[in-house]
Amino acid sequence: MKIAIIGTKLIGGTLGKAWHRAGHDITFGVRDLSRSYDLPGSIATIDEAIEKNDIVVFAIPGRAMQEMIADYTIEDKIIIDATNGGDTTDKTMAQIVADQFPRAQVYKAFNSLGYENFENPMFGEDNADLLFIGAEEKQEIVAQVIQDIGLNPIYVGELDQQGILDAGMRFWFALTRKYGRHVAFKILHDK
Ligand SMILES: NC(=O)c1ccc[n+]([C@@H]2O[C@H](COP(=O)([O-])OP(=O)(O)OC[C@H]3O[C@@H](n4cnc5c(N)ncnc54)[C@H](OP(=O)(O)O)[C@@H]3O)[C@@H](O)[C@H]2O)c1
Repeated sequence: MKIAIIGTKLIGGTLGKAWHRAGHDITFGVRDLSRSYDLPGSIATIDEAIEKNDIVVFAIPGRAMQEMIADYTIEDKIIIDATNGGDTTDKTMAQIVADQFPRAQVYKAFNSLGYENFENPMFGEDNADLLFIGAEEKQEIVAQVIQDIGLNPIYVGELDQQGILDAGMRFWFALTRKYGRHVAFKILHDK
């Protein structure tokens, strides 16, 4: 797949490296093209990265999102919002993104575990589960790119279920106090 990643640090960088290893075509969209980036794939302006890719991943501070996304148009693409924070009193970030880009398919993923678990999703022979939300329509594509990181995707519903992901993130932080940051969840089921 052709994937644009906005945000080059712990989440953006880790996901981009893993997807590049898995054979995806990665473009990082950056604010400052004059800097050097130790990242695989291509570096482009944010506009170019959005324009030429099928999936756009936001991995920037949640508090910067609302203002930042107001400058862009994204239609008929999959958006994956990996941010935490930035929710307003009346809207979750998932809803803010969906309202800004009504013709895109918006998903939220990669926000409920620390990046260390995307660098290394394995725990012995088990891989970590990753919760995600968004429309039913394209969820299989999003599940596939989650699998390509080495994680097991767990679809928990539409965008109005962000509270479940947020609770997962808080639970993850609580676990880190005892287990450190390489810690994740596994859902047990018999399906
Ligand atoms: N770190 C984790 O383990 C973790 C886990 C789950 C979720 N998250 C969430 O994932 C997101 C990314 O986290 P992170 O730790 O990778 O990095 P971060 O410090 O939250 O974000 C840094 C990146 O965001 C870019 N950025 C900041 N403001 C921007 C703007 N207005 N427009 C465009 N780009 C902007 C920065 O670009 P410049 O280099 O140009 O400043 C940089 O590439 C956050 O929302 C975080 O809460 C993080």
